[in-house]
Amino acid sequence: MNRSFIPAQTVIREIIPENDQISTFRIEIIDKTILFTFLPGQFLMISVPHCGEAAISISSSPDALPLIDLSIRRAGKLTTAIHAMKKGAQLGIRGPFGTAFPVETFAARNLLFVAGGIGLAPLKSVIDHCLFQNGVEEDAVLSISLLYGSRSPSDIAFQRVINEWQEQGIDVHLTVDEKDEHWNGAVGRVTELLDDTRTANNTTALVCGPPVMIRSVIDRLKALGCEDTDIFITLERHMKCGMGLCGHCHLDSKLICTDGPVFSVSALTTMDVMELC
Ligand SMILES: Cc1cc2nc3c(=O)[nH]c(=O)nc-3n(C[C@H](O)[C@H](O)[C@H](O)COP(=O)(O)OP(=O)(O)OC[C@H]3O[C@@H](n4cnc5c(N)ncnc54)[C@H](O)[C@@H]3O)c2cc1C
Ligand code: FES
Repeated sequence: MNRSFIPAQTVIREIIPENDQISTFRIEIIDKTILFTFLPGQFLMISVPHCGEAAISISSSPDALPLIDLSIRRAGKLTTAIHAMKKGAQLGIRGPFGTAFPVETFAARNLLFVAGGIGLAPLKSVIDHCLFQNGVEEDAVLSISLLYGSRSPSDIAFQRVINEWQEQGIDVHLTVDEKDEHWNGAVGRVTELLDDTRTANNTTALVCGPPVMIRSVIDRLKALGCEDTDIFITLERHMKCGMGLCGHCHLDSKLICTDGPVFSVSALTTMDVMELC
């Protein structure tokens, strides 16, 4: 059976609230004969009968299979229906689709992750994979830093995971657009955190968030001396087929579902970057 067209059924094993709007749905494919693998950065088309289908990034590492995490923000009809589901309910998945982050090139490099909001979801898959790989000496990365921006302190997602990452030596910097009375941390856009960041020669930057954020982060990284070939971004467009057939997800010269969602900035034209916002 072709899994690109026909959804595989999965069962929700666990639901982890990340903030008021985002929950992580930990799912497992019911049919154990299906061989499912993916690479960090790839996405699935998630479906619920009579509600529709949407692209969702896989937020867990391939090392956690057969469990697959989907961190979903309540946005419209489908995601609201998923948020109403309980443990044991079923979701359809097609995929995995799209390009991935080049994790095979990360050994002995400094990794700088820059995320805004739900944009941390696909990057989380990479971070967890790198932490797992760091147990294998020849694949170890030199360092991992994360700059993460949220609208307000209550919008910070994945706080539990972030704490674990810090315990494992990841250098984490959080910022919020608007603070509340309990917030003692940085206030401002995630780009401003980059002002205090020194990027070494052998740094790879991985960026995901709202398009306007991605564009200003690219500009800032370039000003800091990062080469286009060392900056990777992941992009979103509304999708229908998820596999290059319908043309619904084009960004100027590219289809986000097959040429992306992960792009090296060196592969984007000026028009593509202008179209980001
Ligand atoms: C590669 C990729 C990865 C993604 N990963 C994640 C993820 O990990 N987590 C996550 O929560 N979301 C993710 N998304 C976004 C998710 O696919 C959308 O939010 C999806 O539309 C939600 O479906 P829905 O039916 O709940 O909401 P929708 O009914 O689609 O509505 C969501 C919002 O989009 C607007 N909208 C609807 N249709 C269109 C359209 N044709 N053009 C412009 N705006 C429109 C609506 O007005 C509303 O504000 C990803 C998208 C892509 C392309
Ligand atoms: S979603 Fe159909 S071509 Fe990309």
